[in-house]
Amino acid sequence: MKVLVATEKPFAPVAVEGIRAEVEKAGAELVLLEKYTDRSQLLEAVADADALIVRSDKVTADVFDAARNLKIVVRAGAGYDNIDLQAATAHGVVVENTPGQNSNAVAELALGMMVMAARNMYDGTSGTELKGKRLGIQAFGQVGRNVARIASGFGMEVSAVDPFCPADVMVAAGVRPVKDVPELYINSEVVSINIPATPETVRSIGYDLITSMPKKAILVNTARKEVIDEEGLMRALADRSDIKYMSDIRPDCAEELLEKFPGRVFFTPKKMGAQTAEANINAGIAAARQCIAFLRDGIDRFRVN
Ligand code: 3PG
Repeated sequence: MKVLVATEKPFAPVAVEGIRAEVEKAGAELVLLEKYTDRSQLLEAVADADALIVRSDKVTADVFDAARNLKIVVRAGAGYDNIDLQAATAHGVVVENTPGQNSNAVAELALGMMVMAARNMYDGTSGTELKGKRLGIQAFGQVGRNVARIASGFGMEVSAVDPFCPADVMVAAGVRPVKDVPELYINSEVVSINIPATPETVRSIGYDLITSMPKKAILVNTARKEVIDEEGLMRALADRSDIKYMSDIRPDCAEELLEKFPGRVFFTPKKMGAQTAEANINAGIAAARQCIAFLRDGIDRFRVN
């Protein structure tokens, strides 16, 4: 049994050791392909793998075509928009994610970005505090719930919207449920975007929502760049010089935004919300266990296809 870990953005070494221990304990072999620069390396490495563990690496039809023995792909993380589920199913390959395993790390970064924006990107000028500010969380999933928990510690007034989460779950967490996305944006001085990229959410946040936010609003995106309508964002930032946009992953129009709106936009060079030793260990080891559980016992509890 061969388990391939293919990560263009590698896990922390301590997490790789944990993954290795899980795989070898089950009598399987671990193959590592880290920081690959060419897709051909992935296609070659996957050829005889029984299981594949990835992060945001693109797993598309060419990978499934090349992987003759592949039975399972585990995305060590939450969002699986990088995996072609149809192609996986067509090839009889199970796809799983590891929900919740890296969500605290992403939530901590979201709060870090809020502080950074509120303190004017640490430029030495007088900023504002988060305490008492209204925070709107767009989607109350694993990351959203962690954002709410940490934000409550900051003394923020937290509300959330999520069509898939019952209102009483939010209320139990001390969060005010809001009926729809427009209401969330209108009322929130800070919005934390924590939605997955799906056909419904892609380019769903644009000019109207952003410009509906209160004065001096901060928009924090630790989800996916695809959920933003970048042309609308650009116009919103131009029309509203009080708004700031913080994103964990560079938008396609990053250069233009940085040039036009200095001090009001910030982007991480590479998605780093889940880039902590703890998140890597949690998600990596969960992924390894899920691969083994499926290969050995057919358990597919976290299957998404
Ligand atoms: C996720 O969906 O789990 C996060 O976006 C983290 O992605 P990463 O593993 O590529 O950092």
